[in-house]
Amino acid sequence: MESYRLVINGGKKLEGKVKISGAKNSALSIMAAALLTKDPCILKNIPRLSDVEIMIKVIRKLGVEIEWAGNDSLYINPDGFDNYEAPYELVKMMRASFLVMGPLLARLKKAKISLPGGCAIGARPVDFHIKGFKAMGAKVEVEKGYIQAEAEELVGNDIYLDFPSLGATENIMMAASLAKGTTKIENAAKDPEIVELGNYLVKMGANIKGLGSDLIRIKGVEELKGVNYAIIPDRIEAGTYIIAAAMTRGKVLVEDLNIDLLKPLIVKLEKAGVKIIKHKNSLKVIGPERVDSVDIKTMPFPGFPTDLQPQIMAFACIANGASVITETVFENRFTHIGDLRRMGADIKVEGHSAIIKGVERLSAAPVMASDLRGGAALVLAGLVAEGITELSRVYHIDRGYMNLENKLTAMGADIKRMKEQV
Ligand code: EPZ
Repeated sequence: MESYRLVINGGKKLEGKVKISGAKNSALSIMAAALLTKDPCILKNIPRLSDVEIMIKVIRKLGVEIEWAGNDSLYINPDGFDNYEAPYELVKMMRASFLVMGPLLARLKKAKISLPGGCAIGARPVDFHIKGFKAMGAKVEVEKGYIQAEAEELVGNDIYLDFPSLGATENIMMAASLAKGTTKIENAAKDPEIVELGNYLVKMGANIKGLGSDLIRIKGVEELKGVNYAIIPDRIEAGTYIIAAAMTRGKVLVEDLNIDLLKPLIVKLEKAGVKIIKHKNSLKVIGPERVDSVDIKTMPFPGFPTDLQPQIMAFACIANGASVITETVFENRFTHIGDLRRMGADIKVEGHSAIIKGVERLSAAPVMASDLRGGAALVLAGLVAEGITELSRVYHIDRGYMNLENKLTAMGADIKRMKEQV
């Protein structure tokens, strides 16, 4: 696989506008949900990301017809499954492949999925998913790195999640949609991706109440029908560009986003001296000469999103004053700190908190992405650093940002993608 680096000549203000693409995490779960019916469907506003391409491969591996139809739509025809296994070589590349387990159990009453490994940000077990499937009557065994599940039939049950896990809520909700009887998910995730997945399932004929609350009730139905659907804009991509504009003394119109989903970020940035002019589906960001510090604690939705924690840490690195950022969702989501320090950031870690003393200017250095959002944080740092930052392992960033360097270049950044010299 060819590998690339990003070469960023820092110090340019971002000005102009940026259009937000479809939400990666919503697209992945809705692609899985499309398997719950034998009818075809068209999913629109799907972002061209490597994570989406992997999910396409996983779905194709199950014997389901899935093709790009136009540059941002997918045609899926799940009439004929001829396989119920999601193999290691695909699941290891993207743990969200695990989201096909619920639909496989619901449609075929069996599933064999490679145990998704952890990744840079944490162990990321799937015990809550398994607890949910067992509660609905599935027999689940883990052996030789695979999770094998089968059920005579799925029967609704009450399921309490120890943590409001996004993926577990999604997987259980999909399986429960075709189970016999009612399933209650208590302490459910309340993220927009849950509401979107639930809306899609309801449009398919599912009977679901309580979306967006911590108690979701699903009354199983006999079958679901194929429906077309458009994916919402990506709030994390939007948040990343909003922070980039704020850090570079920029003036940027961020289009196509639901600003209500970014309230925690907007409140924090306004408090740090960033001017934000809100419109219905867009907002204008005006960055100050120098941003003030922020204190952040990541929480499940509607709290400050963990997926924006690395990016707001890059912001804090050049803020006026000291910031405290506490990560409560993942146990190891500070992988970006080492490289930020190489760029001159002053960061101390105490347990799950990082104390960042803002410096006047970061300085360019060769750095390496180690996960998706950590990589995005290094891009933001490169945009403000003195000199030329070379960022390798860009494949991490390509998982979640479509046309990153083109969108930044259009706003005035000096950023190029170069092929790695092997
Ligand atoms: C989803 O991951 C997102 N991925 C992540 O986005 C996001 O960071 C995360 O939710 C939290 O918002 C997708 O939607 C594809 P969780 P998920 O289950 O579902 C623990 C990105 O940047 N846990 O809510 O895997 C887990 O270890 C990615 O796009 C268990 O212990 O997250 C973590 O500490 C990164 N057992 C916490 O819960 C389980 O069975 C939250 O995980 C499941 C989760």
